Amino acid sequence: METTARTSLGRRLDTRTARVCVVGQGYVGLSLAAAAAVEGFHVTGIDVDAERVAALAGGELVVPGVEEALFVQAAESGRLGFGSDYDPVATADVVVICVPTPVHEHRPDLSMVESAGRAVGERLRRGALVILESTTYPGTTEQVLRPLLERPRFRAGQQFWLAFSPERIDPGNVKYGLRTTPRVVGGIDEASTELAAAFYSTVVDDVNPVSGCRTAEMAKLLENTFRMVNIALVNELSALCAEQGIDTWEVIEAAATKPFGFMPFHPGPGVGGHCIPLDPTYLAWQSRRDTGRPFRLVELAQDINAEMPAYVARRIGDALGDRGVPLPRAEVMALGVTYKPDVGDLRESAAVKTLEMLAAKGARIRYHDPFVPRLQTDVLRLRRTPLTAANLEAADAVVVLTPHSQYDLDALTRRAGFVFDARNALRRRGDDRVVTL
Ligand SMILES: NC(=O)c1ccc[n+]([C@@H]2O[C@H](COP(=O)([O-])OP(=O)(O)OC[C@H]3O[C@@H](n4cnc5c(N)ncnc54)[C@H](O)[C@@H]3O)[C@@H](O)[C@H]2O)c1
Repeated sequence: METTARTSLGRRLDTRTARVCVVGQGYVGLSLAAAAAVEGFHVTGIDVDAERVAALAGGELVVPGVEEALFVQAAESGRLGFGSDYDPVATADVVVICVPTPVHEHRPDLSMVESAGRAVGERLRRGALVILESTTYPGTTEQVLRPLLERPRFRAGQQFWLAFSPERIDPGNVKYGLRTTPRVVGGIDEASTELAAAFYSTVVDDVNPVSGCRTAEMAKLLENTFRMVNIALVNELSALCAEQGIDTWEVIEAAATKPFGFMPFHPGPGVGGHCIPLDPTYLAWQSRRDTGRPFRLVELAQDINAEMPAYVARRIGDALGDRGVPLPRAEVMALGVTYKPDVGDLRESAAVKTLEMLAAKGARIRYHDPFVPRLQTDVLRLRRTPLTAANLEAADAVVVLTPHSQYDLDALTRRAGFVFDARNALRRRGDDRVVTL
């Protein structure tokens, strides 16, 4: 069966007659489903969230961050449908699983991959290709997902194909989107890799096959761990520079003039979002589980980054103290609270943690963020403060935490008495009203 089925799926991919199911209609799954539909495939987006499915089916883009023009084009093509049940899997040629893989108490939670895998496995047909996109530790595709898909006389590599391809999308990045971000693809065997690569080649310009699923799974963790560790490095360096009276940002700029062997990373209140702080945990957890050893660099970097909100809050408190305003009497106005500029995502936001630390020390907090009308955490219950000159002037400290590109920071901070710039967004040197992290 193998060669004929392989050729036949290859042909259906080439001619866009293959039917595609994308399980999980979040940021990752919906972006892929829409792109595949625009490319000519008939796609069903499956999600357990019935409300989300109903809204998407009604043409309402309820998933933040997904490119609106792409969604509209896909909806207008008539080739993108949505549903809560898994029945379309029974007739699908390609099934891509994009469900969340959160971390709870330093342990990966694969329960959603497992329930999706079970539901797909009950319906999967002969000759289909299954791809996992959820971020996870090496071995998940083969050891966790594969057994859920197999049944007697229905084996991966024989009756169906199986691969892993990590999603690398960078929310808010206007330069690199789904099509222009290169893909890594690794299957359980050569045919799986080849077919998965053929599928992604329809929606992504540059597809890079690797020797297996575990390589692809590990590549994703390396990418995000590399980023997290380097951010920890500059965060620790910035504390040392501050004590030594050296401008960290100038140091980084200077180092970055070296055209090889150096890549600039920048300090800040910590790492946020649901990828960089969490993905390296998979590595740390797997190392302890399988070797009994800690993955030292990951754990150390996580500790350093986790200390940053307290460090930034302390620096703000010290700077206010130097100006004769004790933190418990200070009013702090924060600019930007999401985890990074130009996205509306508050998950793991280090800016929010910094504000919680300041509030815990008695400061009165106000904030503005174009994406966040209300900020509700265990500690903070705030409504957005309008960006009026009076509000900015009234603050004892204007704190730049997340410099969204729509902020005209020079204008906003012109009349502020004191500005703490946690991101070097103002690039202001020699202005004693401004302290930079
Ligand atoms: N968002 C990103 O920037 C990004 C980038 C790279 C990788 N990832 C990874 O991709 C995966 C998905 O992330 P996301 O941001 O799209 O998640 P998300 O939380 O935005 O959406 C996931 C969707 O899956 C649905 N779901 C949960 N269990 C399901 C099930 N059993 N069957 C069907 N649907 C189910 C949820 O209802 C939700 O709509 C995660 O592993 C994440 O780590 C995300």
